[in-house]
Amino acid sequence: MIQRLAIYPGSFDPVTKGHLDIVVRTSKLANHVIVAIGKAHDKRLLFSLEERVALLTSEIEGLKLPSVSVAAYDGLLVDYARTVGASILVRGLRTIADFEREKTMSALNHALDPTLETIFLPASEDTRLISSSAVKELVRYGKTLGFVSDAVAQALFKKLEVG
Ligand code: PNS
Repeated sequence: MIQRLAIYPGSFDPVTKGHLDIVVRTSKLANHVIVAIGKAHDKRLLFSLEERVALLTSEIEGLKLPSVSVAAYDGLLVDYARTVGASILVRGLRTIADFEREKTMSALNHALDPTLETIFLPASEDTRLISSSAVKELVRYGKTLGFVSDAVAQALFKKLEVG
């Protein structure tokens, strides 16, 4: 049997129900899925790497999927993928704007390592409005629209000192 290791990379600042939907669906396509948190130096992040890992780990444990694990990486994603022996990168797409950005990202990653393929999964109908940035904006006004779990919502309210 071909062993397929997929990486689902992201900033996960913080993890949302949209991310979890992609994780569950990816777990049906690969033998193992590493949900990998990039340190993402170029972004202004709300949560530290340690906090993002802790929130994501707890959410993934809640899914009870033995073939899914959490990790963090620094540097290039393709280098991390080579280190762990992954052949597939997975990214979720909500909009055409996502597609334009992700197409470029996948081409760059493919140029860096032609053995890696990126698979795009369309956001499911009930998660297509969810993004970490939308959640952060909503929480500043005391709302979450159910985009994140209660635990993540609490972490957001605490971090943003809302409520
Ligand atoms: O959730 P995000 O913020 O869209 O995730 C972006 C992430 C972390 C997956 C991406 O920025 C990344 O992998 N950064 C590491 C550096 C890298 O490999 N960049 C791509 C080629 S330039």
